[in-house]
Amino acid sequence: MFKLRFSLLACAALYSVACSKKSESSTEGGGAAASPTASAPPAAAPPPAPADPATRAKEMFKTQCVVCHGESGKGDGIGAASLDPKPRDYTDKTWQASTDDARIKKVILEGGAANGLNAAMPPYAAQLDEPVADELVKLIRAFGS
Ligand code: HEC
Repeated sequence: MFKLRFSLLACAALYSVACSKKSESSTEGGGAAASPTASAPPAAAPPPAPADPATRAKEMFKTQCVVCHGESGKGDGIGAASLDPKPRDYTDKTWQASTDDARIKKVILEGGAANGLNAAMPPYAAQLDEPVADELVKLIRAFGS
């Protein structure tokens, strides 16, 4: 009776040693795998960044508006060559003085066709929200100062 219990205990002890060895080695493996997982969150962090309307407006101008309006805002983007009327020269102080922010924003949101301008000027209401549109107006104003 005692012998049986002892050997059962010994067996259990042996088993637990084997077990703990196993879990030790699996912790090692897990430890190695854990470091890439640990560095993953910063890689997934960028999404909140585009929340800043000024940054989004700059990005949008650089990637989309520049095609027609040009880096310098003079309406000399590569897409402008075949356009008539040409995109406005934003550096034209007479034009800057003749218009207002609400009108500029309206054209950006509604596009050229809805405002009696060249229909080549696309409507952007579906792609941007009000704060970004306001920042785009500021960017356009900055070309005139
Ligand atoms: C496919 C070419 C094209 C793209 C892309 C484009 N535009 Fe235009 N845009 C034009 C043209 C052409 C006009 C001039 C329309 C006219 O005077 O008849 C214009 C006019 C405008 C005007 C009105 C200026 C005025 O005379 O009152 C604003 C403001 C403007 N664009 C802003 C933007 C912004 C901001 C973007 C990017 C988000 C953009 N445009 C992208 C072609 C483009």
